[in-house]
Amino acid sequence: MAEERGQARDQWAGKLGFMLAAIGSAVGLGNIWRYPYIAYENGGGAFLVPYFIALVTAGIPVLILEYALGHKYRSAAPFSFRALSQRWEWLGWWQIGVSFFIITYYMVIIGWVLSYCYYSFGTRWGSDPDTFFNESFLGLSAGFWEFGGLQWRVLLATAIAWILTYWLLQRGVSRGIELASKILIPALVVMILIFVVRGLTLPGAVDGLNVLLTPDFSALLNPSVWVAAYGQIFFSLSVGFSIMIAYASYLNRRSDLTNSAFIVALSNTGFEFLAALGVFSVLGFLAFQQNATVDEVVTSGIGLAFVAFPQIINELPGLNSFFGVIFFGALLFAGVTSAVSILECAIAGVREKFGLTRRAAVNWVCGLAALVSIIYATRGGLYYLDVVDRWMNNYGLVLTGLAEILFVVFVVRRLRSLQDHVNERSYIRAGGWWIIALTAVTPALLGLVTILNLYGELTSRYGEYPLSGLLVFGWGLAVLVVVAGFVFQGITGREDPATAEENA
Ligand code: ALA
Repeated sequence: MAEERGQARDQWAGKLGFMLAAIGSAVGLGNIWRYPYIAYENGGGAFLVPYFIALVTAGIPVLILEYALGHKYRSAAPFSFRALSQRWEWLGWWQIGVSFFIITYYMVIIGWVLSYCYYSFGTRWGSDPDTFFNESFLGLSAGFWEFGGLQWRVLLATAIAWILTYWLLQRGVSRGIELASKILIPALVVMILIFVVRGLTLPGAVDGLNVLLTPDFSALLNPSVWVAAYGQIFFSLSVGFSIMIAYASYLNRRSDLTNSAFIVALSNTGFEFLAALGVFSVLGFLAFQQNATVDEVVTSGIGLAFVAFPQIINELPGLNSFFGVIFFGALLFAGVTSAVSILECAIAGVREKFGLTRRAAVNWVCGLAALVSIIYATRGGLYYLDVVDRWMNNYGLVLTGLAEILFVVFVVRRLRSLQDHVNERSYIRAGGWWIIALTAVTPALLGLVTILNLYGELTSRYGEYPLSGLLVFGWGLAVLVVVAGFVFQGITGREDPATAEENA
């Protein structure tokens, strides 16, 4: 059987396939569902400033670092870190733990998206999409601790999303992930372009764009805006999850790394802006139709895509169902190609550690994550999702990214050797700018904003949720993933390939 232990490592069939898979991982719900409301909540146009600073100082440098780690040590995160220091395998498991909890709610949102693709036909959400989303669809309970039983339609949609993703992952790296990306990413480009062109040609579009692009500079003094920008960059570029370490480990030995990193980062930002242009122009249109200001129509953060969009689709002068399918279809395609990557980093990690076949690893990872995701299909699900999303981003991804930098730069001091590895095979050199970003700028900025944000977090309570809720779903999970990292490190598994290779 090809899937036996000790088989050759999975590989991408080609460079283009890898690049599309990496773009597929980066471009996801984060670009279309998350970016617009995060930008809106964090200063609108002014958010562009921390966003770009975060992209240049952390996003691109860390992306190159993760490529270098995975490519050099040809392992998923735990064994890549272990190749650098036996005692630091836990850092890779911490990253995988964060990815694991992110995927548990990510799949539920894909479930919502699937449902909304269906509801788009004939605009089945009716004339009041807000009530439809919160009351009929989610059946939102009255308070945080009121789980309120299962919401069957959300559960069913989530199950379908899981089956689809599971099927792709079982097919493997090149026949599953790569092939899906080659089909879905070009389709996604076309869909986003249709959406943006339609948005920009609607009356009122300019008012929406003004909100997106007009800076509220006072927001820049707020540390939580900065941490939101770093969180968004990490989430959106898929760094800090350990995805890019696993993906680069499947690359051919001679592949160019920086070139791919720039293409992936710029494509991701391009998608983010295109999506934001589309989203804000249609919000401008909605405001125009309702004779209101854009601020008045952007009511819900997390539900923006599921409340404001159906409202907009209702108001369109024609082809309503078509535009619904284009928008939610784009979200679906973007979401699926990211979901497989978030799961793949965990699958690669457990395969290597426990010497499992691909099938067994996929079964374990998807099975456990699917079980956890049921909690978001309860009537209180939206509350838990909101808290887990915030903590896993701000205190998961941002911290794992920071820890990864500190570890490579200051603990094992291997940045130079990774730089050599990158430069030996890359057209664009990872030069002094890369070293300065990772040794000084990023650790200083990320460290500072995290401390300031932490202070803010402790002095004002997020989202008016009960403290007990934040302790369990926020702080509790954030600590749990670190502890789980050490537990996994403590389990005796197979000898890792990177160390074996070095010892040989
Ligand atoms: N990078 C993925 C996204 O943006 C996780 O959704």
